[in-house]
Amino acid sequence: MNRETLLAKLRAEVTGCQACNLRKSATQVVFGEGSPEARLVFVGEGPGAEEDRTGRPFVGAAGQLLDKMIGAMGMTRFADTYILNVVKCRPPGNRAPVPEEAQICQQHLERQFAILDPVIVVLLGATALRTLIDPTGRITQARGHWVHRDDRWFMPTFHPAALLRNPQYKIKAWGDLKLVIDKYRELVEPDHDSLYYPRL
Ligand code: URA
Repeated sequence: MNRETLLAKLRAEVTGCQACNLRKSATQVVFGEGSPEARLVFVGEGPGAEEDRTGRPFVGAAGQLLDKMIGAMGMTRFADTYILNVVKCRPPGNRAPVPEEAQICQQHLERQFAILDPVIVVLLGATALRTLIDPTGRITQARGHWVHRDDRWFMPTFHPAALLRNPQYKIKAWGDLKLVIDKYRELVEPDHDSLYYPRL
């Protein structure tokens, strides 16, 4: 079975998940979206109000910034990336998921990873960092440093919502994304170009 079919089957399963209380207050499950063949995956925290309403990841203000970040990398969401969240159901009132919720939902994330088999994973913010790499990690310290695990390259960086609150972090986040472009050129597509970070 190809990746698209496997993801469609998994989406149907995850849509029926009732494993934690988040499903009770959420309108719908937000599975994720992008290219099934993407070698680069972004992992956020969890759906917000707009995502809960539309069923799509990163479509609110933070999502618009994420699309700009992806564009600056010379990519588009649907052609070159896949966008996931640690939890698939909106935590009430936009609170962060508690570790238990993240842990319960991790089975879905792991199965998404198993199908997509990404080479590079960008961890957007502390929830993604703590769930996937280091339960006590701090994004301000971990960002900008590669973690190589399970044959994948993980780059923690600021969550776009944090960049909206603290625009002074944007320069650091762009530095992190340039490292991601370097790695992408090294491991995925040597000729990959970006207007804002041209190949030498
Ligand atoms: N923030 C996230 O972490 N994920 C989304 O899908 C939207 C906002």
